[in-house]
Amino acid sequence: MTPKEIIRLEHLGLRYSDDRFIFFDITCSINAGEFYFLTGKSGAGKTSLLKILYKDIQPTLGFVHVFGYSIGELSRSDLPVFRQHIGLIFQDCRLIPTLSIVDNVALSIHIGGSQYRRSCSYAKELLDWVGLGDCLNSLPDALSDGQKQRVAIARAVVKRPALLLADEPTGNLDNENAFRLMALFQELHKMGTTVVLATHNNELVKGFQYPQLILKDGSLFVNDNGFIKKKA
Ligand SMILES: Nc1ncnc2c1ncn2[C@@H]1O[C@H](COP(=O)(O)OP(=O)(O)OP(=O)(O)O)[C@@H](O)[C@H]1O
Ligand SMILES: [Mg+2]
Repeated sequence: MTPKEIIRLEHLGLRYSDDRFIFFDITCSINAGEFYFLTGKSGAGKTSLLKILYKDIQPTLGFVHVFGYSIGELSRSDLPVFRQHIGLIFQDCRLIPTLSIVDNVALSIHIGGSQYRRSCSYAKELLDWVGLGDCLNSLPDALSDGQKQRVAIARAVVKRPALLLADEPTGNLDNENAFRLMALFQELHKMGTTVVLATHNNELVKGFQYPQLILKDGSLFVNDNGFIKKKA
Protein backbone atom coordinates (compact mmCIF):
# COMPACT_ATOMS: atom_id res chain seq x y z
CA MET A 1 0.00 0.00 0.00
CA THR A 2 1.18 3.56 -0.67
CA PRO A 3 0.82 6.00 2.25
CA LYS A 4 -2.15 7.64 0.50
CA GLU A 5 -4.11 4.40 0.08
CA ILE A 6 -6.74 3.78 2.73
CA ILE A 7 -8.28 0.78 0.93
CA ARG A 8 -6.45 -1.63 -1.36
CA LEU A 9 -8.22 -4.55 -3.05
CA GLU A 10 -6.22 -7.23 -4.86
CA HIS A 11 -7.91 -9.76 -7.14
CA LEU A 12 -11.01 -9.63 -4.99
CA GLY A 13 -13.69 -12.19 -5.75
CA LEU A 14 -16.89 -13.17 -3.94
CA ARG A 15 -19.37 -15.95 -4.40
CA TYR A 16 -21.91 -17.11 -1.87
CA SER A 17 -22.60 -20.46 -3.50
CA ASP A 18 -20.93 -22.56 -6.16
CA ASP A 19 -22.87 -21.28 -9.14
CA ARG A 20 -21.64 -17.73 -9.77
CA PHE A 21 -19.31 -14.98 -8.63
CA ILE A 22 -21.01 -11.75 -7.46
CA PHE A 23 -17.76 -9.99 -8.39
CA PHE A 24 -14.43 -11.25 -9.64
CA ASP A 25 -10.79 -10.09 -9.90
CA ILE A 26 -11.28 -6.55 -8.61
CA THR A 27 -7.93 -4.81 -8.07
CA CYS A 28 -8.04 -1.15 -7.10
CA SER A 29 -7.28 1.46 -4.45
CA ILE A 30 -9.13 4.22 -2.69
CA ASN A 31 -7.00 7.03 -1.35
CA ALA A 32 -7.40 8.87 1.94
CA GLY A 33 -9.68 11.87 1.58
CA GLU A 34 -11.65 10.62 -1.45
CA PHE A 35 -15.46 10.52 -1.65
CA TYR A 36 -17.20 7.95 -3.84
CA PHE A 37 -20.78 7.06 -4.48
CA LEU A 38 -21.12 3.28 -4.89
CA THR A 39 -23.82 2.41 -7.40
CA GLY A 40 -25.07 -0.57 -9.38
CA LYS A 41 -28.32 -2.42 -9.86
CA SER A 42 -30.03 -4.12 -6.95
CA GLY A 43 -28.12 -7.37 -6.37
CA ALA A 44 -24.92 -6.07 -8.00
CA GLY A 45 -23.01 -6.57 -4.73
CA LYS A 46 -22.77 -3.10 -3.11
CA THR A 47 -23.69 -4.29 0.38
CA SER A 48 -21.45 -7.34 0.01
CA LEU A 49 -18.47 -5.18 -0.97
CA LEU A 50 -18.99 -2.86 2.01
CA LYS A 51 -19.33 -5.89 4.31
CA ILE A 52 -15.98 -7.19 3.07
CA LEU A 53 -14.38 -3.80 3.83
CA TYR A 54 -15.37 -3.89 7.49
CA LYS A 55 -14.78 -7.64 7.71
CA ASP A 56 -18.34 -8.71 8.29
CA ILE A 57 -17.86 -11.34 5.57
CA GLN A 58 -14.76 -12.91 4.01
CA PRO A 59 -14.09 -12.69 0.29
CA THR A 60 -13.80 -15.96 -1.62
CA LEU A 61 -10.64 -14.81 -3.40
CA GLY A 62 -8.07 -12.06 -3.08
CA PHE A 63 -6.74 -9.68 -0.47
CA VAL A 64 -8.15 -6.63 1.26
CA HIS A 65 -6.09 -3.97 3.03
CA VAL A 66 -7.78 -1.24 5.04
CA PHE A 67 -5.74 1.33 7.03
CA GLY A 68 -2.73 -0.84 6.20
CA TYR A 69 -4.22 -3.89 7.94
CA SER A 70 -4.40 -7.05 5.85
CA ILE A 71 -7.89 -7.75 7.04
CA GLY A 72 -7.81 -11.46 6.27
CA GLU A 73 -5.28 -11.73 9.07
CA LEU A 74 -7.35 -9.90 11.69
CA SER A 75 -8.78 -12.11 14.41
CA ARG A 76 -12.19 -11.54 15.99
CA SER A 77 -10.53 -9.89 18.98
CA ASP A 78 -8.77 -7.39 16.68
CA LEU A 79 -12.05 -6.17 15.18
CA PRO A 80 -13.08 -3.54 17.77
CA VAL A 81 -9.74 -1.72 17.37
CA PHE A 82 -9.86 -2.10 13.59
CA ARG A 83 -13.42 -0.72 13.42
CA GLN A 84 -12.82 2.11 15.88
CA HIS A 85 -12.01 4.50 13.05
CA ILE A 86 -14.77 3.32 10.70
CA GLY A 87 -18.24 4.86 10.73
CA LEU A 88 -20.78 2.30 9.54
CA ILE A 89 -24.30 2.97 8.32
CA PHE A 90 -26.10 -0.29 7.59
CA GLN A 91 -28.94 -0.73 5.12
CA ASP A 92 -31.08 -2.02 8.02
CA CYS A 93 -29.91 0.60 10.62
CA ARG A 94 -29.11 -1.93 13.41
CA LEU A 95 -29.87 0.31 16.38
CA ILE A 96 -29.80 -1.16 19.88
CA PRO A 97 -33.53 -1.60 20.61
CA THR A 98 -33.28 -1.30 24.39
CA LEU A 99 -31.42 2.03 24.39
CA SER A 100 -32.89 5.49 23.83
CA ILE A 101 -31.76 7.11 20.61
CA VAL A 102 -29.49 9.53 22.46
CA ASP A 103 -27.79 6.58 24.16
CA ASN A 104 -27.50 4.75 20.82
CA VAL A 105 -25.53 7.71 19.47
CA ALA A 106 -23.60 8.51 22.67
CA LEU A 107 -22.48 4.90 23.05
CA SER A 108 -20.63 5.15 19.77
CA ILE A 109 -18.40 7.97 21.09
CA HIS A 110 -18.28 6.46 24.55
CA ILE A 111 -16.71 3.28 23.14
CA GLY A 112 -14.14 5.62 21.59
CA GLY A 113 -13.17 6.69 25.12
CA SER A 114 -14.97 10.00 25.68
CA GLN A 115 -16.72 10.71 28.95
CA TYR A 116 -20.40 9.77 29.01
CA ARG A 117 -21.72 13.26 29.84
CA ARG A 118 -19.71 14.86 27.05
CA SER A 119 -20.72 12.09 24.64
CA CYS A 120 -24.39 12.68 25.50
CA SER A 121 -24.19 16.38 24.95
CA TYR A 122 -22.55 15.94 21.55
CA ALA A 123 -25.04 13.18 20.64
CA LYS A 124 -27.96 15.52 21.55
CA GLU A 125 -26.51 18.30 19.42
CA LEU A 126 -26.18 16.03 16.42
CA LEU A 127 -29.64 14.47 16.87
CA ASP A 128 -31.05 17.96 17.03
CA TRP A 129 -29.28 18.79 13.78
CA VAL A 130 -30.79 15.75 12.03
CA GLY A 131 -34.24 16.87 13.23
CA LEU A 132 -34.74 14.46 16.13
CA GLY A 133 -34.21 16.85 19.03
CA ASP A 134 -37.79 16.29 20.21
CA CYS A 135 -37.49 12.54 20.70
CA LEU A 136 -34.09 12.06 22.31
CA ASN A 137 -35.42 9.60 24.87
CA SER A 138 -37.51 7.53 22.46
CA LEU A 139 -36.62 3.91 21.86
CA PRO A 140 -35.81 3.06 18.23
CA ASP A 141 -39.03 1.00 17.81
CA ALA A 142 -41.09 4.14 18.38
CA LEU A 143 -39.56 5.82 15.31
CA SER A 144 -40.33 5.68 11.61
CA ASP A 145 -37.81 4.03 9.28
CA GLY A 146 -36.59 7.44 8.07
CA GLN A 147 -36.11 8.62 11.66
CA LYS A 148 -34.19 5.43 12.54
CA GLN A 149 -31.99 6.05 9.54
CA ARG A 150 -31.19 9.56 10.78
CA VAL A 151 -30.20 8.11 14.19
CA ALA A 152 -27.95 5.60 12.41
CA ILE A 153 -26.32 8.45 10.47
CA ALA A 154 -25.77 10.49 13.65
CA ARG A 155 -24.25 7.42 15.31
CA ALA A 156 -21.83 6.89 12.44
CA VAL A 157 -20.62 10.48 12.08
CA VAL A 158 -20.49 11.40 15.77
CA LYS A 159 -17.03 9.92 16.28
CA ARG A 160 -15.59 11.65 13.17
CA PRO A 161 -14.32 8.43 11.63
CA ALA A 162 -11.35 8.27 9.24
CA LEU A 163 -13.49 6.11 6.93
CA LEU A 164 -17.27 6.22 6.50
CA LEU A 165 -18.95 3.22 4.85
CA ALA A 166 -22.59 4.05 4.27
CA ASP A 167 -25.05 1.57 2.79
CA GLU A 168 -28.11 3.38 1.39
CA PRO A 169 -27.98 5.94 4.23
CA THR A 170 -30.80 7.97 2.73
CA GLY A 171 -32.88 5.09 1.35
CA ASN A 172 -35.84 5.81 3.64
CA LEU A 173 -35.68 9.60 3.42
CA ASP A 174 -37.46 12.10 1.19
CA ASN A 175 -35.18 14.07 -1.09
CA GLU A 176 -35.23 17.18 1.09
CA ASN A 177 -33.87 15.20 4.05
CA ALA A 178 -31.53 13.18 1.83
CA PHE A 179 -29.87 16.36 0.53
CA ARG A 180 -29.72 17.83 4.02
CA LEU A 181 -27.95 14.75 5.34
CA MET A 182 -25.58 14.77 2.41
CA ALA A 183 -24.41 18.13 3.75
CA LEU A 184 -23.39 16.32 6.93
CA PHE A 185 -21.35 13.80 4.91
CA GLN A 186 -19.78 16.68 2.98
CA GLU A 187 -18.75 18.38 6.22
CA LEU A 188 -17.22 15.16 7.47
CA HIS A 189 -15.41 14.73 4.16
CA LYS A 190 -14.04 18.27 4.38
CA MET A 191 -12.62 17.39 7.79
CA GLY A 192 -10.69 14.54 6.15
CA THR A 193 -12.99 11.50 6.29
CA THR A 194 -12.84 9.13 3.31
CA VAL A 195 -16.40 8.26 2.26
CA VAL A 196 -17.89 5.34 0.30
CA LEU A 197 -21.65 5.77 0.07
CA ALA A 198 -23.84 3.17 -1.65
CA THR A 199 -27.02 4.60 -3.10
CA HIS A 200 -29.81 4.08 -5.64
CA ASN A 201 -30.71 7.77 -5.54
CA ASN A 202 -29.75 9.19 -8.94
CA GLU A 203 -30.74 12.71 -7.99
CA LEU A 204 -28.27 12.58 -5.12
CA VAL A 205 -25.53 11.27 -7.42
CA LYS A 206 -26.26 13.97 -9.98
CA GLY A 207 -26.58 16.68 -7.32
CA PHE A 208 -23.04 16.28 -5.97
CA GLN A 209 -19.77 16.34 -7.88
CA TYR A 210 -18.36 13.11 -6.49
CA PRO A 211 -17.11 10.25 -8.68
CA GLN A 212 -19.12 7.07 -8.85
CA LEU A 213 -17.88 3.52 -8.33
CA ILE A 214 -20.16 1.27 -10.35
CA LEU A 215 -20.53 -2.47 -9.78
CA LYS A 216 -21.59 -4.05 -13.03
CA ASP A 217 -21.35 -7.61 -14.32
CA GLY A 218 -18.97 -8.53 -11.50
CA SER A 219 -16.45 -5.73 -12.17
CA LEU A 220 -15.89 -2.33 -10.61
CA PHE A 221 -15.86 0.76 -12.82
CA VAL A 222 -15.37 4.43 -12.02
CA ASN A 223 -17.37 7.23 -13.58
CA ASP A 224 -15.53 10.50 -13.22
CA ASN A 225 -17.28 13.37 -15.01
CA GLY A 226 -18.96 11.02 -17.48
CA PHE A 227 -15.73 9.17 -18.32
CA ILE A 228 -16.20 5.51 -17.39
CA LYS A 229 -13.30 3.09 -17.01
CA LYS A 230 -12.32 0.10 -14.89
CA LYS A 231 -11.42 1.25 -11.39
CA ALA A 232 -7.71 0.82 -10.75
N1 LIG B 1 -25.85 -14.08 2.79
C1 LIG B 1 -26.07 -14.32 1.49
N2 LIG B 1 -26.18 -15.59 1.03
C2 LIG B 1 -26.36 -15.85 -0.29
N3 LIG B 1 -26.46 -14.89 -1.24
C3 LIG B 1 -26.37 -13.61 -0.83
C4 LIG B 1 -26.18 -13.26 0.55
N4 LIG B 1 -26.12 -11.91 0.64
C5 LIG B 1 -26.29 -11.43 -0.61
N5 LIG B 1 -26.44 -12.46 -1.49
C6 LIG B 1 -26.61 -12.32 -2.96
O1 LIG B 1 -25.50 -11.58 -3.45
C7 LIG B 1 -25.91 -10.67 -4.46
C8 LIG B 1 -25.46 -9.28 -4.08
O2 LIG B 1 -26.21 -8.86 -2.94
P1 LIG B 1 -25.98 -7.44 -2.27
O3 LIG B 1 -26.90 -7.36 -1.11
O4 LIG B 1 -24.53 -7.29 -2.01
O5 LIG B 1 -26.44 -6.49 -3.46
P2 LIG B 1 -26.74 -4.91 -3.46
O6 LIG B 1 -26.05 -4.36 -4.65
O7 LIG B 1 -26.41 -4.35 -2.13
O8 LIG B 1 -28.31 -4.87 -3.70
P3 LIG B 1 -29.38 -3.75 -3.21
O9 LIG B 1 -29.17 -2.58 -4.12
O10 LIG B 1 -30.69 -4.42 -3.45
O11 LIG B 1 -29.13 -3.44 -1.77
C9 LIG B 1 -27.41 -10.84 -4.59
O12 LIG B 1 -27.66 -11.71 -5.69
C10 LIG B 1 -27.82 -11.49 -3.30
O13 LIG B 1 -28.93 -12.30 -3.48
MG1 LIG C 1 -27.52 -3.42 -0.66
